[in-house]
Amino acid sequence: MIKRILFVCLGNICRSPTAQGIFEHQLKTHRLSGLVESDSAGTADYHIGKAPDHRAVSAALGRGVDISHLRGRQVSDEDFHYYDLILVMDRSNFNDLCRRAPEACLSKVILLMDFAPKLGEEVPDPYYGGLDGFERVLDMLEGASAGLLEHLDAQEKLLASLQ
Ligand code: 4NP
Repeated sequence: MIKRILFVCLGNICRSPTAQGIFEHQLKTHRLSGLVESDSAGTADYHIGKAPDHRAVSAALGRGVDISHLRGRQVSDEDFHYYDLILVMDRSNFNDLCRRAPEACLSKVILLMDFAPKLGEEVPDPYYGGLDGFERVLDMLEGASAGLLEHLDAQEKLLASLQ
């Protein structure tokens, strides 16, 4: 049963806070808030305590999602135990976390785009690029989040049918 989800990228100021914001927004839209708890974190320690990148904040606001209150943090050892799913943006994040994860938690680490494989395999890092990169990230995150939500909804329905 998936109850807690952590979104992970490198810096935790562009992709993963946006993924968290989009996912929580979609949960609310589908009246599913409370179904799962989510957070985001970075593999690196560059931006601990910092607000998301201003370009990520304004791009997300353009889609009706406010992520300005989120603050950067680094993935902790406890996260591997606490979260049921750890959804990473790219293969570099995947490799970093697989090196760190306790063996029993390895299967929790999954590429987020596995929930929308038609849209791509990795969410590209927009940090050093232009604003169009942030829009592309949002398109991918909206699709992957919808796929994730469908997965969770199917899980809920299956559980209900078994009760
Ligand atoms: P993110 O983007 O991993 O999507 O948050 C980055 C943010 C900052 C840096 C790299 C990527 N940086 O090198 O500071």
